Amino acid sequence: MLSSALEADIDEVAIAADLRELAAALDRVGYGEILTSFLPQKAQAHVWAQTAAKLDGPLRTLMELFLLGRAVPLDDLPPRVAAVVPGLTEAGLMHTGQGGVWLPNLILLRPMGQWLWCQRPHPSPTMYFGDDSLALVHRMVTHRGGRALDLCAGPGVQALTASIRSARVTAVEINPVAAALCRTNIAMNDLQDRMEVRLGDLYHAVEGEVFDDIVSNPPLLPVPEEVQFAFVGDGGRDGFDISWTILNGLPEHLSDKGACRIVGCVLSDGYVPVVMDGLGEWAAKSDFDVLLSVTAHVEAHHGSSFLRSMSLMSSQISGRPAEELQDLYAQDYAELGGSHVAFYELCARRGGGKAQLLDVSATKRSAEVWFV
Ligand SMILES: C[S@@+](CC[C@H](N)C(=O)[O-])C[C@H]1O[C@@H](n2cnc3c(N)ncnc32)[C@H](O)[C@@H]1O
Repeated sequence: MLSSALEADIDEVAIAADLRELAAALDRVGYGEILTSFLPQKAQAHVWAQTAAKLDGPLRTLMELFLLGRAVPLDDLPPRVAAVVPGLTEAGLMHTGQGGVWLPNLILLRPMGQWLWCQRPHPSPTMYFGDDSLALVHRMVTHRGGRALDLCAGPGVQALTASIRSARVTAVEINPVAAALCRTNIAMNDLQDRMEVRLGDLYHAVEGEVFDDIVSNPPLLPVPEEVQFAFVGDGGRDGFDISWTILNGLPEHLSDKGACRIVGCVLSDGYVPVVMDGLGEWAAKSDFDVLLSVTAHVEAHHGSSFLRSMSLMSSQISGRPAEELQDLYAQDYAELGGSHVAFYELCARRGGGKAQLLDVSATKRSAEVWFV
């Protein structure tokens, strides 16, 4: 966990200068270039470790500190990086002691040219970044000079991406630690002049405001009510709970020319997501057009690798036996008609009141779910 300093007492101005200096120093020494050599959507600690082992000097030290979770001697850091350690330590982003420095459960990545502090892979992360994060980044088309809203921002990769074309970006996040990290990322990328973070619950944080682009990677996995799961991933019984809340707020919060894009997954029968009828009714009632692009239907019966990994994650959090949890998952999915889980991108705009399913999923699928 980050220290309470980062949650509450963060000195935004002081830390912003240190973060800008850190970004410049890391760029100068080549750490940013190394990061761009790794697959962006996967945390592959073994690959990072193999690469670090091939290097000598400051680059190896920086990889050990910022990617591999190791403590490194302060004296081994490049002088410009060492110079910002006291400020970042005071803000809770680093820890120091006995001549060494280490990070509190964080890693520093650089997807799509943005510096991004996020949490090291963890069964119940609070500052999440993963393959779904980049699946949404890849699909974002924001209006040039417009106002963008990122709901469920986490560390903020979509909000940062929106800032490339949008004039103003508001990131909303309910977890104060993730919101603080999002502000840290904004400062590290020197984007405070056009971005802000609001701590709050979805549209409650932006009452009465209208946006040209709304994007969200919400908690998206289907989880039965009586089963515990990581908060960042629990999308309710069919996976669509938070997506419904986001859709229901669009008539009030999306501008006439605006578009909303959400990535997620939802139970399906292998062909049609279980929310398709509901989406049709919502589109007709709200005068919106909805396009649901499905890239994969993944088997979700008892014994499937999807259910095995869901029940293992729940078991790690609750301590209940994974086999017992898998039964609960399978029963609940079956009750809702979900033999599969469909991975989708949803795009909604004001229009003719129709919901359309665009199934581009491949018959013979690779391990990839967000692309075919
Ligand atoms: C799957 S993570 C996505 C984080 C980030 N957008 C990304 O794609 O890397 C979902 C995030 O939504 C936040 N969240 C959950 N419920 C929320 C709510 N009602 N309002 C705002 N944020 C919420 C969680 O704390 C978490 O950071």
